[in-house]
Formats: sequence, structure tokens, C-alpha cells
Amino acid sequence: MDFQLKTLTLSRAATEKADALIVLAADGAIAGQEPLTKLLADARKAGDLPDKAGKVLSLYKPLVGAPRTVVLASSGDGKAGGVRSAVMAALGAVKSAKPARVAIVFAQAADEAGVRAAVLAASDACYVYLTTTSKAEANPVRNVLLGVDDAGALKAAFGEAVATAGGIEFAKEWGNRPANHCTPTILAQAARGLARQAKVKCEVLEHKDVVKLGMGAFAGVAQGSSEPLRFIVLNYQGAAKSEAPVVLVGKGITFDTGGVSLKPAAEMDEMKFDMCGAASVLGVFHALGELQPACNVVGLIPACENMNDGKAIKPGDVLKSMSGQTIEVLNTDAEGRLILCDALTYAKRFSPAAVIDIATLTGACVIALGGVRSGLFSSDDALANALQEAGEASMDRCWRMPLDDDYAEGLKSNFADMANIAGRAAGAVTAAKFLQKFTADFSWAHLDIAGTAWKSGAAKGSTGRPVGLLLTYLLNSAAGAQGAEKASVRKKASRKSRSAA
Ligand code: BES
Ligand code: MN
Ligand code: ZN
Repeated sequence: MDFQLKTLTLSRAATEKADALIVLAADGAIAGQEPLTKLLADARKAGDLPDKAGKVLSLYKPLVGAPRTVVLASSGDGKAGGVRSAVMAALGAVKSAKPARVAIVFAQAADEAGVRAAVLAASDACYVYLTTTSKAEANPVRNVLLGVDDAGALKAAFGEAVATAGGIEFAKEWGNRPANHCTPTILAQAARGLARQAKVKCEVLEHKDVVKLGMGAFAGVAQGSSEPLRFIVLNYQGAAKSEAPVVLVGKGITFDTGGVSLKPAAEMDEMKFDMCGAASVLGVFHALGELQPACNVVGLIPACENMNDGKAIKPGDVLKSMSGQTIEVLNTDAEGRLILCDALTYAKRFSPAAVIDIATLTGACVIALGGVRSGLFSSDDALANALQEAGEASMDRCWRMPLDDDYAEGLKSNFADMANIAGRAAGAVTAAKFLQKFTADFSWAHLDIAGTAWKSGAAKGSTGRPVGLLLTYLLNSAAGAQGAEKASVRKKASRKSRSAA
């Protein structure tokens, strides 16, 4: 889909060439004598357009020269959430008219958050999964024109939003592909494709490389499958080499049967989504390649299947991780932490500024937080706060969970340095405590996206989360670093001028 930003008043919007025109109206007085403004004011006054966010009024040929379909949509307080509801509802209302070109115009002054929300909502509403269907037809919407009062001032936010939408779409696409169309090998090819972008490099390790590195936990999970594992290393270098990167680690279980500790049959198909952490890392790199921000980011994806087979690991087996720590596998269905622990150890070699892992890790996190917020775990308050803030700003929210050492009690083992599961209580936290044992050397955060990465039921499909959160975090910290650099240059310069005087 193609997005465009333009300075557009309501009077000019009425004559904009489009198949459908959506007018976003926040609460409050709407005054003016232009036909479209008057229409909006009248609808409000008559009570035909309640000011609750997401309420819409569809009109057919209401004005001479205006698009055939015009939808007035209330955006409530006009903040990001309201704009999102309004755009979603309005695009739903124009669907049957199959518009190719849609103009979305803000009736009042638009801000950055509003523009971001409008772009992301439009992209979200228009995404259709087609890859493994025989349908050729995607959503008819080809072009979306965003009309605002001051396009110049909102250009940067708009560009970021469009790139984020592209990254989210990429993550959705890979999340949605069934496991036989998204094996570790195919996933690695997708990652290699991203390296066509400037400043992005990709390296793919295979079984022998992983064994040589000593990744016994990752290799152990993979050994039950005839699909070979892959360890994907992505590198985005947008800043000086000397600048420490943020490392993103994405769980890439392309299918999780549970292994010998087999899962129940009902809804097992949804375990094709067990690589959504990996997909979110790919989505972030898609957007980084497009935006080319001044930061360094490494992406690590351990990818394999968790299968039940003659060669598969068994409950009680002990695996040796790359860190040297040994793990008693009490449940082969707790495989995510086994592949992640070796990737976390691998992350150390980048001397990272921070390491963030993203994983559909526990059913317990779905019970705790549902599909609204991802679980956030971190022993670094500054990192946790930055991620929480990025989540709020991008409407891709998370909630911080505890990491008290008492929660690690249940991970004790008589036969290894630790077990891979504790009791049923606080399952999302004990999983995080397991991962934490591999993060002593750097600042670390863990996002459990088991509840947020995909939707079940009639709307079954990947959400592309938390690409929005991660990108916002990365762009915020890149801007912060640049600010700090400029400040230090300024300081040096003023020191120099002082000493000269
Ligand atoms: N991929 C699952 C987690 C999951 C389950 C995500 C359901 C979304 C919905 C993970 O590998 C898993 O199976 N975890 C187990 C851990 C348990 C054995 C300690 C779980 O949550 O049941
Ligand atoms: Mn599992
Ligand atoms: Zn899993």
C-alpha cells in the first residue's frame, strides 16, 4: 500500500481525487461555512454523528465534486487511540465500495501521534493474508492520502509510521505462514532477503556451526526434527562501529508440538505462531532498512521445530548450554527458553548496550495479561522504563512483571545446574528467571508475547506485535544518543573556546 502526506484543508479535501473520503473529527466545536465543514457541523448538531470514538456516518454523493463515498468518523478526544478507532471503523464502512484510493483528512489540527495512529490503523485494516490461498485479490485499497493542516511539520513522524507499518506487515506475513511454508530454512531465506537493504547484513549458521559453538540446548531441541535448524544473525549498522548495539533475540520455533511432552490436539495449529518473536525481529530490520536511523542493531534468531521423534530429547535428559551451565529437561514443551538461552550467551560477543529477547514463551503469560499487554521482565529499571514508555507511545503496550530471586527456587535440579521448568505457579515469571541465568554480562529485558503476537478465533492471525514497541524504543534511544553526542561536541567546543580565551 502506498501512503502519501499532504497539506489539505477541509474545503480542498472535498475536491480531492479519491474513491472514498474519510473525515476524522474530534470532539468539540466545528465551525466554518465550507460545504464539508458545514456538513460535519450539521451532523454533529443533529446528533447523527455522536462524538464517541469509532462512531461513523456514511454518506453517498453528499457534495458536488466530492468523492462518491464520504464517511464522517468521530475520533473522540483526537488522541492516538481515538484516531485508531475512527480509521478502523471508517475503513470498515467503505469496504463494500471497494475504493482503490482513499483520502483520510483530519478536520482539526493533527499531531504526530495522530498521524502515526492513522497510518498504522489504515495499514492494519487493509492487510489480507493471501500467500497460501488461491485468491489473487488483496484489499482493494492501493493508495491512502493523509490530509493534515501542516504536512511539513509532520513529515518525519509520517515517514517513521509508514516504515513501521511495513515492518508490522512483514512480521504478520511471516507469522501467518503455516509451518510447512515457514521452516527454519525458509525463515533464514527471508532474513537473507532483508540484507538487500543498505547497512543490513545477514549471516546464517547451520547445525555444525551451532555444535561447534557449544549450543547444546538449542541443538537439543532441534534434534527431534528432520528440518535442519538455522541460527540467523542480522546486523544493521547505522552508527559508528564503536557504538554498542542493541541486540534483539527472537524465538523462532517454526512449529511447537511440545515434543515428547506432547501438546493436546485442540488449537495445536496455533503453534505455527511460535516464531512470532523471530518475525518481530525481521519486521524491525525491514523498517530499519527503510528508515536508515543512526543506531546499531543486531538481530539473533535461533530457528527450529520442536517435534516428537525417535531422536527427540526426553524428559530427564540433561543438555549443556553454550554458557557451560547444564539443564535438566523436565518438560520438552518448555523449549523456547532452551533455544533462547544459547542465543543470549551468543549475544555477549557484541558487547551490547542492551539485549532484548522477544518470545511467545508461556501460556501462563496469556493467563496473566491476555491479549492486551505483553509481559515485560527486566532487572534494569532504565531499560524497563524505556520499553514501557515506547509501548505506550506506540499503542503496543506491555506491563512490567517481577523478577524476585525467590521465583527461581523451583528451577533447582538434582541432576543439572538447573531444571527447565518450575511448578505451575507464576509460570511466566519462572520462565523469565530461567532466561535471566544467561544474562549476567549485560543489561537485559524479556518480552513474553504469547498473548499479544496473534489472535485466535474468527480473527485468527498474527498481529505484528511488538514491532511498533521495539522500533519506537530503538528510534527513541537513537535520538537520545545523537542528542548526547551533540551535547558532548558542544561541551568540547565550549571548553576549547574557553581555553582559547
Ligand atoms: N510456545 C509455548 C507457549 C504458548 C502456549 C504460547 C500457548 C501461546 C499459547 C511454549 O513453548 C510452551 O509450550 N510453554 C509451556 C511451558 C510449560 C511446559 C512450563 C506452557 O506455557 O505451557
Ligand atoms: Mn512449547
Ligand atoms: Zn513454544
